[in-house]
Amino acid sequence: MTDRSNERTALLAALRMAAVSRPPIAELFEQDPGRFGAFSRSAAGLTLDYSKTALTDATRDQLLALAKAADVEGRRDAMFAGAPINLTEGRSVLHTALRAPADRPILVDGKDVAPDVSRELGRVCAFAEAVRGGAVKTAAGGRFTDVVNIGIGGSDLGPVMATLALAPFHDGPRTHFVSNVDPAHLADTLKTLDPASTLFIVASKTFTTAETMANAQAARAWVAAAIGEAAVADHFCAVSTALKHVQAFGIAPDRMFGFWDWVGGRYSLWSSIGLSIVMAIGERNFRAFLGGARQMDEHFRSAPPAENLPVLMGLVGVWHRNGCGFPARAVLPYEQRLVRLPAYLQQLEMESNGKSVKRDGSPVDGPTGPLVWGEPGTNGQHAFYQLLHQGTDVIPAEFLVGAQGHEPEHADMHAMLVANCLAQSEALMRGRTPEQARDQLLAMGRSAEDADRIAPHRVFPGDRPSVTILYRLLDPATLGAIVALYEHRVFVEAAIYDINAYDQWGVELGKELATAFLPLVTGEKADAPASTRGLAEALKDLRHQ
Ligand code: F6P
Repeated sequence: MTDRSNERTALLAALRMAAVSRPPIAELFEQDPGRFGAFSRSAAGLTLDYSKTALTDATRDQLLALAKAADVEGRRDAMFAGAPINLTEGRSVLHTALRAPADRPILVDGKDVAPDVSRELGRVCAFAEAVRGGAVKTAAGGRFTDVVNIGIGGSDLGPVMATLALAPFHDGPRTHFVSNVDPAHLADTLKTLDPASTLFIVASKTFTTAETMANAQAARAWVAAAIGEAAVADHFCAVSTALKHVQAFGIAPDRMFGFWDWVGGRYSLWSSIGLSIVMAIGERNFRAFLGGARQMDEHFRSAPPAENLPVLMGLVGVWHRNGCGFPARAVLPYEQRLVRLPAYLQQLEMESNGKSVKRDGSPVDGPTGPLVWGEPGTNGQHAFYQLLHQGTDVIPAEFLVGAQGHEPEHADMHAMLVANCLAQSEALMRGRTPEQARDQLLAMGRSAEDADRIAPHRVFPGDRPSVTILYRLLDPATLGAIVALYEHRVFVEAAIYDINAYDQWGVELGKELATAFLPLVTGEKADAPASTRGLAEALKDLRHQ
């Protein structure tokens, strides 16, 4: 091991020691009423408040030393410079190039890719605007009213999340998303659509993903059956890196929008994969979305670690996961339109950092990426917050909330939303002692006996950490900054864990077995491992009932 790697391992061990004797968060506020100022930072239109964690000046310094030992800044610079940091696939990781200033050269294998990026973005925007404006017509010469994006994973989650988030900016055709190979997904979507005015985007980096190809073929058949085989060319387009496969499907090259192998699937919504987003919100808003991400990129590249939002957020993540040993984190947007942000982040974070070996193939030094999950507030409050407040596991929470809503006529309701968000982080931190619970019951007129009996159920342990991300209004630029913040947080955590965040071998085995088991399900082949044979036979019986 190198000295740096030894230092990294020693600092991670020291962090675990420090976490054992961490002070209660509420006490930290009593000691320092100015804690909010000292443990929050703003950039690119976002404020990150991490004051409601148990970090102290000393543990934050330890984490910053860890970031230094892990060479977060050096690795960041290597990523931005196009070094092949995805070691197992020998690829650069350059989603940042998709939103970089057009005149900044970005070299991949000695070639400046900036002109290609700019050209492809121009093609995507021109096509989307032509559909939106009616210049690109249906087979019958009419206007497209609906666009269906067929894709899965990174070719679905980002566009779904962003189009929902930016609903107030929609002024194009209605957008729909089909991802699951469960035919219910396609059927329920097509049920509401007219084939004569529906445009399909087949979005797949590889154009071999089984689910996407099955849905695309079914949609193609639906169009051909309704308005004729000749209409397919007008009613389909593709986003892919695989021209040959796209052509074989029957989509002409001028209807294919490309991207590059240095854009990972879960980092691809900034690329042509964002076509459905442009269809919904238009070029100007999409460019503002890229602009928000660019602002966060510039901040990540230039701000010192102690002032750097993605670095700080990554360090808080490492503190909670590796220091304190918390197994999960909840993403809780107080913004209904961010309803799919948790699902989007599940892929971004868990497919990136759900790893057990370091970059050199040796086992990791401790826990890596946590389980990421969540739902918007206030809905979650009426469902699973019970466990966040009184369950036996501590789950750090990440709140997101805007100062303004898009419905000024309902400012009173938005105020309720914000008050709920603030109340939850305070309640998680403060909790309620047995004495407070008992006193409250007595004040409510309950007898002393009743108060003793019920009080234990009304105790909140408190000291449950959270971070809060604040912004003015959820607009395209703000969304861009939020997503880029999360992307870079993933990077920082991965650098500290010394793992490769950019491959996803863990998805392969299931895919291979699904292919092998298909004949078993369709009844062509009966032999199978014992663990699966029983299930397959039971399903067969049920199919025939
Ligand atoms: O199954 C994992 C995965 O490879 C993701 O990483 C990716 O986003 C998704 O499948 C879809 O891949 P494609 O865009 O090639 O269809």
